[in-house]
Amino acid sequence: MSKLEHLLQPITVRNLQIPNRVVMPPMGSNLGNKDGTVSDANLAYFKRRVQSGAGFIITEITSVHPDGTASPRTLCVYDDRFIPGLAKMADVVHQQGAKIAMQLHHVGREGYYLLQEGRALGPSAIASYIYRVKPREMSIEDIQETIAAFGQGARRAREAGFDAVELHAAHGYLLMQFLSQHCNQRTDEYGGDFAGRSRFIVECLQEVRKQVGEDFPISIRISAEEIIKDGYSVEDMQSIMPRLVEAGADIIHASFGTHGSPGGITSAPVEYEPGFKVELARKIKEVVKVPVIAVGRFTDPFMADEIISRGDADMIAFGRQHLADPDFLINAREGRSQQTFECLACNQGCIERLLFEQGSIRCAINPETGQELEYPVDAAKKSKRVWVIGGGPGGLTAASEAARLGHEVTLFEAEPETGGQVTLAARVPYKEVYGRWIEKLAARATRHGAEIITSQGVTREMIQTGHPDEVILASGARPVKPDIPGINLSTAD
Ligand SMILES: Cc1cc2nc3c(=O)[nH]c(=O)nc-3n(C[C@H](O)[C@H](O)[C@H](O)COP(=O)(O)O)c2cc1C
Repeated sequence: MSKLEHLLQPITVRNLQIPNRVVMPPMGSNLGNKDGTVSDANLAYFKRRVQSGAGFIITEITSVHPDGTASPRTLCVYDDRFIPGLAKMADVVHQQGAKIAMQLHHVGREGYYLLQEGRALGPSAIASYIYRVKPREMSIEDIQETIAAFGQGARRAREAGFDAVELHAAHGYLLMQFLSQHCNQRTDEYGGDFAGRSRFIVECLQEVRKQVGEDFPISIRISAEEIIKDGYSVEDMQSIMPRLVEAGADIIHASFGTHGSPGGITSAPVEYEPGFKVELARKIKEVVKVPVIAVGRFTDPFMADEIISRGDADMIAFGRQHLADPDFLINAREGRSQQTFECLACNQGCIERLLFEQGSIRCAINPETGQELEYPVDAAKKSKRVWVIGGGPGGLTAASEAARLGHEVTLFEAEPETGGQVTLAARVPYKEVYGRWIEKLAARATRHGAEIITSQGVTREMIQTGHPDEVILASGARPVKPDIPGINLSTAD
């Protein structure tokens, strides 16, 4: 417990006391209603996440302007009619004792739907990295309207009972598009050198400050480094930090990367070590006195505690870990970290599902995530005898959940060990976490009361004799064989 003393220290920003330094960073969920209002699914998802005990929760992107809305289910704050739903979201977070900031967002040239409708805007008419379609270059009137929209969004966040706002100036969206020479080739006062290109952000911050008053904290999320050929560096970013703080920023959230950065580095895959970009937070801290948030593959509260104790960052964001296992912090506080399911950084249920399938948020290893409204919590009315055939991750999860709900569960695995195909995946460099995942799944199923029998296949006769009430067939996924010439040759050929 005492080992988390730095992470669990409260922190004060303006008049806001945040109970600890654990941040849930913004994560788009696509759970909102189609009209941009907050849905019951949003509220249930948030309620479960906040049970982590994180002190500072930042909402997913929330659109400040209809022409800056990323997708039909993006949450919106561009009109007063959004305030009542957003107020419910703030309440859900406050009920758990945490503080909540709204992330104010404009998608700029990276909006698929807006590009299709010819409504997408950008600092210059340069095509999006991803969609290869040109936006319309913003006029000075567009710029003024957008600055005002950020201010009004912040005003509404405050009216909805939020404790802070965060401007999204990272990851290649509109504010960052102004900073990047790849997207901004303007020759007026909003373009030019790095300082000129930062003018739009500075004016957004000033307008937000004007609208929310002096006592309301403003965070700004930056990509501290663009991570693209001829992109801006962390030294460039350091050079504008004092201006951002002077314009109103109270917290610097030091993320990194843009669309087009290598390998989806912003939500980095498993080959990146936890905390692999913490030096960016440290470099930002060298030039500002306000708190700095570090982010990037964090799964372990004890590592986060050490980073804060070293002075490299003031707060630590755990993104996908909140999806994989929102109990990670409670487990650490109560000496049960070995039970925490670490995020696999596979991105399959979360960011890739959102970006490439336009689906709503899920997690490959946590079936509750994004389905909190339907997910059974209380014990079943009638306990059944359940057989699960197959001890891969699906079978182990089914066994564990059925046992948790009070059923009498037996799992049969034909191989001497549980894990199925994942035991192979776990042998690949950087993927040791997959092995730990299987061990924890088996341990949890046993803890919940399931019996696991290995080296035992199941026959029709066994089912007829044993007559369980339910049989769950979880005998494994079929491996995908890519269509590569020569793939069917044996290694001896
Ligand atoms: C499903 C998903 C949605 C995200 N949506 C947002 C978003 O709305 N705004 C934002 O600034 N970052 C967003 N991110 C990035 C995260 O805030 C975070 O920076 C990133 O996942 C790295 O942190 P992690 O390694 O702890 O997950 C998203 C990431 C994921 C996985």
